[in-house]
Amino acid sequence: MELTDVVRRRRMVRTYSSRPVDRAVLDRILENALHAPSAGFSQGWAFLVLDDPDDVARFWRSTTDGGLDAPDRWLRGMMTAPVVIVPLSHKDAYLDRYAEPDKGWSDRDESRWPVPYWHLDTAMASLLMLLTVVDEGLGACFFGIPPAALAGFRTEFGVPEGYTPIGAITVGHRVQDVGTRGSASRGRRPLAEVVHRGDWGRGWPEAGEDAGGAPR
Ligand SMILES: Cc1cc2nc3c(=O)[nH]c(=O)nc-3n(C[C@H](O)[C@H](O)[C@H](O)COP(=O)(O)O)c2cc1C
Repeated sequence: MELTDVVRRRRMVRTYSSRPVDRAVLDRILENALHAPSAGFSQGWAFLVLDDPDDVARFWRSTTDGGLDAPDRWLRGMMTAPVVIVPLSHKDAYLDRYAEPDKGWSDRDESRWPVPYWHLDTAMASLLMLLTVVDEGLGACFFGIPPAALAGFRTEFGVPEGYTPIGAITVGHRVQDVGTRGSASRGRRPLAEVVHRGDWGRGWPEAGEDAGGAPR
């Protein structure tokens, strides 16, 4: 599929068919995640893959705080996914990498970081997985794990303290028309609203209005 098609077709999918995900497809999704950029090539990420029905059930049990007794529409749909991937960021990999001589931040001072690159890079890897899913003709949804559920999730799956789940991704064969309910119904913000060209007070010219350089 063309890149632009993949990017534009990617929408979050929240209901799946019972068809399993091929192992080769899962491998490709995960392999592509490893091609995300990372600060200092730290690659401080890890992926907990749950592709066994019992493990997927354990995920929902440990993260929904009793919600399984009366699952709402969202949860009923999400629980149909045959695969859940939990991307985790590893801060210490970054602090260690940047303490090396070529970076020189041997004090490991976190205030040096403009934003937490460990989360940023893991999010980039997650986006590559979401795009690969579309390229494979499947669907996925990135969603958050409630903070109150994190301790239980860690215990359930033996996740070490230094690893932070930045969210979770359901993966499966889509059965749903996407993009019409909930947050997605808000619509995409236009370029004119989000792009500032040359100065915050200036917008992005419509095609045809562009005289060839930033307006002065
Ligand atoms: C960081 C992040 C957290 C999200 N959390 C949830 C979530 O908890 N539940 C959910 O259904 N969708 C979640 N989404 C999906 C957004 O609702 C969705 O991306 C947005 O509505 C735009 O729709 P689209 O991705 O289909 O284009 C999340 C997306 C991101 C990037």
